[in-house]
Amino acid sequence: MQIITSVTEMQTLAHELRSKGQIIGLVPTMGALHEGHLSLIRLAAERADKVVVSIFVNPTQFAPSEDFNKYPRELEADVAKCESAGADYVFAPPADEVYPKGYSTYITEERVAKPLEGVSRPSHFRGVTTVVAKLFNMCRPDLAVFGQKDAQQVAVIQKMVADLNFTVDVVVAPTLREPDGLAMSSRNRYLTATQRTEALSISRALFKAREMVAAGERRSDRLIAEATHILSQQRRVRVIYVSLVDRLTMEPMRELEPGRGLIAIAAWVDEVRLIDNIVL
Ligand code: PAF
Repeated sequence: MQIITSVTEMQTLAHELRSKGQIIGLVPTMGALHEGHLSLIRLAAERADKVVVSIFVNPTQFAPSEDFNKYPRELEADVAKCESAGADYVFAPPADEVYPKGYSTYITEERVAKPLEGVSRPSHFRGVTTVVAKLFNMCRPDLAVFGQKDAQQVAVIQKMVADLNFTVDVVVAPTLREPDGLAMSSRNRYLTATQRTEALSISRALFKAREMVAAGERRSDRLIAEATHILSQQRRVRVIYVSLVDRLTMEPMRELEPGRGLIAIAAWVDEVRLIDNIVL
C-alpha cells in the first residue's frame, strides 16, 4: 500500500489508473479509524479495482468552538488499519495543500443542509461539501463510500453530486454498532464509562422507534415523544434534536412513509456531541 501526500501526485496517479480502465473507489475520512470505517473500505474494495482512503481532518467543517484541535490524529495506526482492510492508497495531504494561502472558494448546498445539523452547526456542511468536491477532483473516483451514520451528510453529498453533475457513484454503507448498540464513531473515545452508559439511551430511543413502527405506529409526534422520553431519563444527556425526516430531503415527516423516513437524534452527553439515526 502506498501513502500519497501530494495533491499533484494523487491527481497524476488517478489519471494513470483511469487511463488503464481501473475503477477507483474513494473512502473519505478524517482518520481516527474504527471498525465502521474499515467496513467502508471493505465495501469499496468489493466494488472498485483500486481503493483510495483519504485521511484529512478538514478544518473548514469545524466551527471555532468545536473539537478541531483535539480531534484525534494517529496517521501511523490509521495507515496500518487501511492496509489490513484492503486499501491500495492512503491519501493524506497537508492542510496548506488543500487550502493554500488565499483560498476563497466554497460549495454550499442550500436546502438539505439547512435543518437538523445545519441549525446548530450552520457552516459545517459548507466545509464538508467543499472538501468532498475537492477530494473528488484530486482522486477522480468512480465511486465514493460514505456511512449511513452521518445520514444528513450522505443526503447533502448526494444532492451536491446531482446538482453539480459529478460522475461519482455515492455508495452508502450501513451503520456499524458496538455489541451494546452504540453507533461506532471516532468521538466515542471522548466518553467516560458513565457517559458511555448514558449515551446508550440514543440507540435505545432509536430501537424503540423502530419497534413502534413495526407495531404499526406512523405518527411522528408519538415516535418523537417516546424517543425523547427515553433520552430525558439520563442526567448527562441533553437533546439537540429528535426528528422524523424524509431521508433524501431531510424535511420533517408528519406521518412516516415506510422506506422513506429516517429518525435522527443529536444529543450532548455532557460535552460530547453524538449523532445517530435509523432508517424506518
Ligand atoms: O465523515 C467524515 O469523516 C467527513 O465529514 C468527511 C466526509 C471525510 C469530509 O471531511
